[in-house]
Amino acid sequence: MPTTNFSTAEKYRYQNGFNSYHETEAVEGALPIAANSPQKPSYGLYNEKLSGTAFTAPRSENQQTWLYRILPASAHASFEPRESATYNTNPESKPHEKLHHIPNQLRWDPFDLDETVDWVHSLHLVAGAGDPTMKHGIGMFIFAAGKDMDPHEAFYSADGDFLIVLQHGVLDIQTELGKLLVRPNEICVIPRGIRYRVALPQGPVRGYILELYQNHFTLPELGPIGSNCLANARDFQVPIASFDEDTDTPWTLLSKFSGHLFAAKQNHTPFDVVAWHGNYYPYKYDLARFSTIGSVSFDHPDPSIYTVLTAQSDHAGTAVADFVIFPPRWLVQEDTFRPPWYHRNTMSEFMGLIHGQYDAKTGGGFQPAGASLHNVMSAHGPDATTHEKASNAELTPVKVGEGSMAFMFESCLMVGVTEWGLKKCKKVQEDYNAESWEPLRPHFKLPEGKKIKNDLPDVKGTNGTVGDKRQVPHWTS
Ligand SMILES: [Fe+2]
Repeated sequence: MPTTNFSTAEKYRYQNGFNSYHETEAVEGALPIAANSPQKPSYGLYNEKLSGTAFTAPRSENQQTWLYRILPASAHASFEPRESATYNTNPESKPHEKLHHIPNQLRWDPFDLDETVDWVHSLHLVAGAGDPTMKHGIGMFIFAAGKDMDPHEAFYSADGDFLIVLQHGVLDIQTELGKLLVRPNEICVIPRGIRYRVALPQGPVRGYILELYQNHFTLPELGPIGSNCLANARDFQVPIASFDEDTDTPWTLLSKFSGHLFAAKQNHTPFDVVAWHGNYYPYKYDLARFSTIGSVSFDHPDPSIYTVLTAQSDHAGTAVADFVIFPPRWLVQEDTFRPPWYHRNTMSEFMGLIHGQYDAKTGGGFQPAGASLHNVMSAHGPDATTHEKASNAELTPVKVGEGSMAFMFESCLMVGVTEWGLKKCKKVQEDYNAESWEPLRPHFKLPEGKKIKNDLPDVKGTNGTVGDKRQVPHWTS
């Protein structure tokens, strides 16, 4: 079966489907029939609506969920700033002063585990673009935590959707809409506003997060591929309703709001949703279920064929964020340089490695829990060793990426690197270029007797002379 052989067994049940309209109730009869907001909901519950898009968003984009809960989400005291001097997950107000926009190719050594902090305090913005207050842009985070969140704390981000790529450990996530167990090689998306608590049943965790300040993730269009392959809708797993009864314990609700932390007190659990229906919910996906396609003749297609999820900008086909993976796959192309080409991209590319070794970088510098960033038009490609190997390899069918899972956050936006990402984390590899591409040697040799065709033919002896109109800029004629 094309699923990951997880070392930690699943402990929850799910309903399957991407952007499906789901309904689920933990107590039979808790969901109202037909009506969304009956005068007297079943069992004394409160009706509550959670909107993930504007009320009037087109039907094809509209996302909302109706919750039937013991107490409404609004039943809490005022939010107060917390850790305002230290907690900031996005550069604010003057981003040009706080983000480093540099054309250098960047690569990071594996980020450290940190056993001293919980999920909320584990988030480090490495790079980003835009501004959550304008609902525009993205944030790229590294997280490393070693402690469960307090048993009576819940967290949400008002800034955007979290796409969580777990690299190490296990996340046991209790959300308002139900529970998710996330293990390495699974990803999880928690949409804006949904409250959750993260526990770490296997100890320290580490990974990457793409926070999407605008729009939501969708499945990419398949075009001529047809109606199946890549990530299939049925493989996305959505929690079922699960609730706690607790209306007499102090709880703290933590909010990430424009990158800052706020806290509010309440005297009941936020995890009291007995039933819900809608299409705005958290979900997870096992990357081993990705049905990879590729060339069966020559050359290889653009890496967009490996897109798991995408979030489009206002211009169709241009993504604010693509989540792309490089899973184990067969390469069979004939007469082809099989690794990625050398290239420059109008999109920015942030890469990470969950486990194994990425097939385009065999030099050892791109390691699990490390990262790289190739910003807009920053040239990159296989390192010298990989080029050498791939140029001389016998082109038999070969499986690459076995036991490995690299991924990319790709964006049409130019991303800036934070002070933490560039300096404080102390993981930037200063010798990235020196190791990767400076060792590339020219192999070009002019064949003997071949004429250089760079120059125009010497027509009637006018080549390069003042009288040759073809050589004269038009404004001087
Ligand atoms: Fe690239």
